[in-house]
Amino acid sequence: MRLFFALWPDDEVRAQLARWSRELHTACGGRRVRTENLHLTLAFLGSVDEAKLAEIELAAGEVAPRAATLVLDEPGYWKRNRIAWAGASIIPPELERLVAGLRDALAKSTIGFDSEGFVSHVTLLRDAREPRAMPALEPIEWRLDGFALVQSVRLPQGSRYKIRKSWKIISPGVP
Ligand code: 2AM
Repeated sequence: MRLFFALWPDDEVRAQLARWSRELHTACGGRRVRTENLHLTLAFLGSVDEAKLAEIELAAGEVAPRAATLVLDEPGYWKRNRIAWAGASIIPPELERLVAGLRDALAKSTIGFDSEGFVSHVTLLRDAREPRAMPALEPIEWRLDGFALVQSVRLPQGSRYKIRKSWKIISPGVP
């Protein structure tokens, strides 16, 4: 089972990301990530034995996500892997805390994960070419209300992502 933790957009944010992806595609070409697959990875676990699922969920349960708004206002391009992405010029401290908490909880468990530093980004295009200029794009306001454990399922037509479980913020005042 190939697993990762991610922020999963709601339909409105997903539609806005798809709009960015279409506009960036005009500038960079490449393959668009399918709209239903768009996400922001928090921690990548890779191939995991199904028997570890309970321990993974236990670790995630230790993390208390907080409400925040992530403003995606920065399209970007990485030459090294030819990815065009949506990023944020400011990472809310609540998101930093969520990533640190999740990774700390995993590090204390027997679950392995890719410990490369967290770089907040939503991959929009793969095999893209460097644009001469980035298009100006309307910022996307993403209200963060929790995170998800996602399974990547390989199908003949490409990877399909499936939410295994999600953890929502606890609203103030709710016991
Ligand atoms: P990417 O979009 O920048 O490639 C599923 O593969 C998700 O996990 C993608 O968002 C991918 O990021 C991310 N990811 C992070 N580390 C990864 C790794 N070592 N191998 C594959 N995917 C990784």
